Amino acid sequence: MRIGVLTGGGDCPGLNAVIRGLVVRAEGHHGHAVVGFRHGWRGVVESDEVDLTIASTHGILHQGGTILGTSRYHPDEVPGALDAVVDTVRRDRIDVLVVIGGDGTLGAAVRVHETGVPIVGIPKTIDNDVRATAASVGFDTAVAIATEAIDRVHTTAESHDRVMVVEVMGHRAGWIAASAGIAGGAHLILVPEEPFDIDDVCGRLAHRHRRGATSSVVVVAEGAVPRLGTIAPPASEDPDEPIVAGAIGELVRREIEARTGFDARVVVLGHTQRGGPPTAADRVLGSRLGIAAADAAHEGDTGTLVVLRDGTIVPVPLAEAVGGPRLLDRSLLEAARILTA
Ligand code: F6P
Repeated sequence: MRIGVLTGGGDCPGLNAVIRGLVVRAEGHHGHAVVGFRHGWRGVVESDEVDLTIASTHGILHQGGTILGTSRYHPDEVPGALDAVVDTVRRDRIDVLVVIGGDGTLGAAVRVHETGVPIVGIPKTIDNDVRATAASVGFDTAVAIATEAIDRVHTTAESHDRVMVVEVMGHRAGWIAASAGIAGGAHLILVPEEPFDIDDVCGRLAHRHRRGATSSVVVVAEGAVPRLGTIAPPASEDPDEPIVAGAIGELVRREIEARTGFDARVVVLGHTQRGGPPTAADRVLGSRLGIAAADAAHEGDTGTLVVLRDGTIVPVPLAEAVGGPRLLDRSLLEAARILTA
């Protein structure tokens, strides 16, 4: 059997752990060949591929990014590209295509699967918003990076008696903001799931400071938006439009400074959250998902997505990955509310 693999969408730490787990299981235990496509779906369309072996993937486990490269190219949105994918799969004798991606890449996988190409999906995204899985590869690392940054911001905020606004990633869901905000002891956490009222934000900060606090840390997800009828959002609220990094952070900073008189600064963590080595948890999750995908391919269990559920890895129908983002768990949001000002 020949198994193809691609990484699509935004990169994240842990992708190489997935690739290694897949190759070790597929080649070492099942005797299958693995072929990697470069730069996501574009590599399949262009037949841009590289042989992956246990020897060639040695030493990649701890490396950030993806050795295959990635792109946000979706063949279902480009005329003729779906046919090109089918051609490559036939010509290069790919029996199963393993697609590692977020909901954009996996949405394309559903369309490709409908053309008859056998697919196994693997969820990854630091945003943690892929449906059907309790966790996506990359999320744990992003939370660790953001938490460390928030820890560091606390001490400079305290030294200067400032309000520090920390903008984290999370376009449509506030998993990073809520998790890192709680872990880093943020005083306010703003997430896309709950549009914020800037009067309320400033009122809470002013109340904190009246009670003796001299500094505050506000964590804002990049996709957070002001409540309708309050202040104007910084840019388009269309969830399909790319986010302008720092826009919502700067808006919140400016409003806080203007309305409370507190000295305020903004820190935009941006792509640092997607870079560098994966945490142990992402290495373990990625490795387990890679192994599970190799097993699913070997058993012909295609049209599936391998996911984390109740602490174990299971295959579910691929179509469960699509249909909108997995929003923040209500109890996590409630914990964020309880623990902040
Ligand atoms: O992959 C998810 C994500 O990191 C989002 O949180 C963010 O909005 C987006 O990707 C940034 O994408 P790009 O790297 O293409 O600017």
